[in-house]
Amino acid sequence: MKITIIGTGHVGLISGLGFAEFGNEVVCVDRDKGKILNLKNGKLPIYEPGLKELLSKNRSRVTFTTSIKDGIQDASVIFICVGTPTKASGEADLSAVENVVAQIAESMKDYKLIVEKSTVPVHTGIKIKQFMKRRGKNIAFDVASNPEFLSEGNAIHDFMHPDRIVIGVESERAKKMLLTLYKPMKAPILITDIESAELIKHASNSFLATKISFINAVSRICKLSGADIEKVARGIGMDHRIGSEFLNAGIGFGGFCFPKDLRAFRKISEKLGFEFKLLEETEKINEEMKHHFVAIVEDALWNLNGKTIGILGLSFKPDTEDMRYAPSIDIIQALQKEGAKIKAYDPQAMPVAKKILKNIVYCENQYDVAKGADCLCILTEWEEFKNMDLSRIKTLLKSPIIIDGRNIFDKKEMEKLGFVYKGIGR
Ligand code: UGA
Repeated sequence: MKITIIGTGHVGLISGLGFAEFGNEVVCVDRDKGKILNLKNGKLPIYEPGLKELLSKNRSRVTFTTSIKDGIQDASVIFICVGTPTKASGEADLSAVENVVAQIAESMKDYKLIVEKSTVPVHTGIKIKQFMKRRGKNIAFDVASNPEFLSEGNAIHDFMHPDRIVIGVESERAKKMLLTLYKPMKAPILITDIESAELIKHASNSFLATKISFINAVSRICKLSGADIEKVARGIGMDHRIGSEFLNAGIGFGGFCFPKDLRAFRKISEKLGFEFKLLEETEKINEEMKHHFVAIVEDALWNLNGKTIGILGLSFKPDTEDMRYAPSIDIIQALQKEGAKIKAYDPQAMPVAKKILKNIVYCENQYDVAKGADCLCILTEWEEFKNMDLSRIKTLLKSPIIIDGRNIFDKKEMEKLGFVYKGIGR
């Protein structure tokens, strides 16, 4: 099939290259000229394992352009993958979506299936339809919702092997086209109305975020009662009705999806007449985890003023350079406010971090960070931190204190090695 992807962020780029991998001809559109130029030259705007290879493998089936008008003419399916950031009110800002829809309405010459892939609040499909009818020139079109569930760092695998494909449609034609497009994928397909598909995405992200806040709340009780959150989480997760994933206690969730989507889901619920207080609590617990972590550091080091704190990991999760809403930002700024000096290392996120976090000594590796530091804080669970030479780290640190915001080490083992080891909820 010939398809157009509008927006080359994480979702757009990976979906575009993924559809190309299945043999489709794909045009990727982005208004950012620099990004398009770089993509044409094989340079990626994001770090994602395997993406470079996927791009070079599918180069002949993918073209890049900044023009929606040129980009949509040959395609029958257009995926909207532009950003839907948060407004000051907490609502999703849909102005980029509206802008794209306006350009499609303006320049389309034949039938188009317009598919929302960006995360959008329920009823966005209705708005798109109304807008198209007002602006269009009596050319047939359909609107569909096909939310994407890929997660950063594992995005290609998630796209190629999803747990489910959700297709929200209201015409047979749209349904058939999307079923044809997804035929090569061996995943279960759920066909719904557009509103339900839109809601599935917000509800899924909110549920996962709530699962994390739930386990983080339990971690606080573990700490207070002498229980171990790792054992408790394992015991809870062994119930197949609950499941073991997303039960890792730590400094909380970040990234561009959960914080933004929780707020947007709360707002749309409120607008529709329901106050989703559970989600308010989910956010509150998440915020508190960062304060809790700083309190653990203070407890271990006493006064922070003048102390050197080594930070391992800055990105909001491993295998990405994404720093958006990363818990490391608030934690580092809180430590700096108390007068602590910060040394930090992240395998991918440092170029991005340098623009956000100032007065930090950025280091070449974990050993550089440990040299002369009063303690080491783990904020992202990168594989290379799990495998570091701990005896070397111990000799480099001023005092052998590790505060593990992601619980990557075994407490007993660490204590056996002579560390003062503090994790979350244990
Ligand atoms: C999330 C969803 O998992 C995807 O399904 C969805 O498609 C995506 O948002 C989106 O809406 O685009 P992502 O934000 O990339 O994906 O990453 P996650 O793996 O979900 O992690 C989010 C945050 O939760 C990270 O900060 C991570 O450290 C934290 N987390 C995750 C925990 O603190 N504990 C856990 O057990 C799991």
